[in-house]
Amino acid sequence: MGSLLPLSLLLLLAAADPGGGSARRRRAAAAPGPGGSSPAPSGTSAPFWVRISPKFKAVPPGGSVWLNCSSSCPLPEDSGLSTRLRRGGTLRGPGWVSYQLLDVRAWSSEVHCFVTCAGQTRGATATITAYKRPQRVILEPPVLAGSEYTLRCHLTHVFPVGFLVVTLRLGGRVIYSENLKRHTSPDLANVTLTYKLPARRRDFRQTVTCHARFNLDGLVVRSSSAPMTLPVLAWSPAPKALASTSIAALVGILLVVGATYCRKWLLMQSRGA
Ligand SMILES: *[C@@H]1O[C@H](CO)[C@@H](O)[C@H](O)[C@H]1NC(C)=O
Ligand SMILES: *[C@@H]1O[C@H](CO)[C@@H](O)[C@H](O)[C@H]1NC(C)=O
Repeated sequence: MGSLLPLSLLLLLAAADPGGGSARRRRAAAAPGPGGSSPAPSGTSAPFWVRISPKFKAVPPGGSVWLNCSSSCPLPEDSGLSTRLRRGGTLRGPGWVSYQLLDVRAWSSEVHCFVTCAGQTRGATATITAYKRPQRVILEPPVLAGSEYTLRCHLTHVFPVGFLVVTLRLGGRVIYSENLKRHTSPDLANVTLTYKLPARRRDFRQTVTCHARFNLDGLVVRSSSAPMTLPVLAWSPAPKALASTSIAALVGILLVVGATYCRKWLLMQSRGA
C-alpha cells in the first residue's frame, strides 16, 4: 500500500473537428449476406472452397486494402463481396476476384466474400483493422518541485485512442495505468499524460518509462519511451498545505484530436502510396 494515492482525472478534449467528422463515423458490424444467401455448411454435395486473402489486415486510418477472393469453382454462377466499407477497383482472373476497399476508418470491419457454385453458396470472411501506433512516445525529463516529481508523457499521432492503455513504470514496477476506452474520437490524436509522483528517497535515481499498448481484437502493439532517471535534490519535507492542494491534480490526460491535421496526414499517405 501507500504507493498509489487517490487520483483525480482531469480531462480536456480539444476536438478540432469543424463538423463533418461524425458523418464518417461508422459502426463495424457484420453485414448481412447478400440476397439472403449464407455460406453452406461444409460436407454438402458440391465440394468447392472459397478463400479470402489476407484474412486479417491492419491499415492506417483512412487507408485502403485489396482483398483477393478465390475459389475452386470452375464456373461460378455468382460471386460478390458484402461489406460496409467503401469499394474501389475490382480485378478478375480465372478463379479469383480481387476487391479494393477504401477509406477504412472503423477500427474493425468484417468483409465477407461469397461464391455460388452449382446452386451452393459458400463464403469466407476477413477482418480489416484501422490503427496507427504512436509515431513517438516521449517521456519528458522528470521535474522535481517541492515534494513531488512531475512526469509527462506524450504520444503523437495515435489511433484509435479508445483501444490504448498508457502505463508509467518506475524501476520496472507499474505506478500508473490508464485505459482510454471512453474516448471514441474517429481521428488521429496526440495524448499527453501528466502524473505527479510523491518524491521519496528510495526512488531517487530510479528509472521511469512510459508505455503505450494497443489491444485490437488480439493484435497487441506496444511502444515505449526512452527511460528517464528521477533527479535527486536535497530532501525537504513539504508543508501540509502544499501536499493537500496537489492531490486535486495528480493525474491528467490531455487529448488533442486533430481532424485538420489528420486529413493532411492521410493526404500524405495516399501520395506516398
Ligand atoms: C488472387 O489469388 C489467386 C489465387 O491464389 C492468384 O492466382 C492471383 O494472382 C491473385 N490476384 C491478385 C491480384 O493478387
Ligand atoms: C501532434 O503532435 C505533433 C508533434 O508534436 C504536432 O506536429 C501536431 O501538430 C500535433 N497534432 C495536434 C492535433 O495537436
